[in-house]
Amino acid sequence: METTFFDKQTLAEAAQLLREGQLVAFPTETVYGLGADATNKEAVKAVYTAKNRPSDNPLIVHVANPAEILSFVTALPEIATRLIATFWPGPLTLIFETIPDSLPSAVTGGLTTASFRMPDNELTLALIEQTGRPLVGPSANTSGKPSPTTAEHVYHDLAGKIAGIVADGATSIGLESTVLDLSGHIPTILRPGAVTQGEIEAVIGAIALDPHLASEQLVPKSPGMKYKHYSPDTRVLMIDCEKNNWLEAFNWARQMNLKIGILANAKLIKQFAEKKLVSFSLSSQRDVVAASQNLFAGLRALDELPEKLDLILVETYPEEGQGLAFMNRLKKAANQEFFEA
Ligand code: TXA
Ligand code: MG
Repeated sequence: METTFFDKQTLAEAAQLLREGQLVAFPTETVYGLGADATNKEAVKAVYTAKNRPSDNPLIVHVANPAEILSFVTALPEIATRLIATFWPGPLTLIFETIPDSLPSAVTGGLTTASFRMPDNELTLALIEQTGRPLVGPSANTSGKPSPTTAEHVYHDLAGKIAGIVADGATSIGLESTVLDLSGHIPTILRPGAVTQGEIEAVIGAIALDPHLASEQLVPKSPGMKYKHYSPDTRVLMIDCEKNNWLEAFNWARQMNLKIGILANAKLIKQFAEKKLVSFSLSSQRDVVAASQNLFAGLRALDELPEKLDLILVETYPEEGQGLAFMNRLKKAANQEFFEA
C-alpha cells in the first residue's frame, strides 16, 4: 500500500479514507497518533496489526468536541466536567466507565472502561469533524519503539502499512498525554504527562498516582504501561543528575572500547566539546519541558546513525512536576539502567 502525506489543503481526502475504514496518522500536541474510525471494528483491529500492538492494550478515543463522549460514558461526574473545561483541548486523557457495547471491544481491550481525549491540534480537530466519527489514536509508532514526534518518524515506522499521514511539523509537547482514571473511587494518574498531578489537584483536589509509577516491581493498572517501551535498538544508560558522573562514564566507555552518543542539553554537550562525541541536543540549557519535546526524536536520531553506536548516554531530571513524565519514558527506554561508576 502506498502511504500518502496530507495537509490542510487535502484534509478532506484523509477524512474520506478514514470513513472508508483506512488508517491515517494525525498530528497532536503530544505525539502523532495512528487514526482509525473508533466505531469500525475492522478498522480498529487493523491498527493493532499495523503497529504490531498486543491486543489487550486499549486505545484512546479522540474527539473534536467534549459532548461527543456522552454517547459512550455511563456518567459524567462533576469533576470530569471541570477537568474538561480546564484542560481540553489538551494533553489530558480521561478514563470512564462506558455504556456496554457502545464501542467495539477492540477499542477497550475488553475492559468496561474507555479513555477519551480532545487533542489540541487544529488540523486533527478538523479531521475528526470531517470524518464525522471519533478516532482511535495510539501513538503512530511500531509498538515498543520511541513515539513519533514528526510525520517522518511515522513514515519511517509505518510506510506501506497505512493509507496516509496528515503532516503538521514537530509536535510541541513531545511526550504522550497524562492518563487519569476517573472510573474508581479516587481519580488516579496511570501515566504521567504534561498535565501534572499538581495542576489536576488545583482543579479537583487530591488525586492518587498509580503505585507502579513509584515502584517498578508493581503491575501497572494501565495495560500499555507494562510493556517494554520507547526502546531504541542501541543500549541506553541514564546519567543520574545528582551524581553527574559524565566523566566517569566517558572513561569507562573508552576503556571498554564502546562507541557512545550523548543526549543532553547544549551547554553540557559544549562542556565536553573537546572529546568530539556524537551528540544530540535536547535543549539549549537544562530545561525539562524542552528536553521532553526532543527526547523521542533524539533517541531515534542517535539510534539510526549510519555508523551504529554501542551506547547512548542520557541526562536525567528530578522526578517531580514535568520531570515525572520525562523520567517515566526515559527509564523505560533505558530499561531502568543508570551508569554506575
Ligand atoms: O498523547 C497521547 O495520549 C497519544 C496521542 C496520539 O493522543 N496517544 C497515546 O496512545 O499515547 P497509546 O495507545 O500509545 O497510549 C494509551 C495508553 C496506554 O498505556 C493504554 O494502556 C492506556 O492509555 N489506556 C487506554 N485506555 C485505557 C483504559 N480503559 N484503562 C486503562 N488504561 C487505558
Ligand atoms: Mg504508545
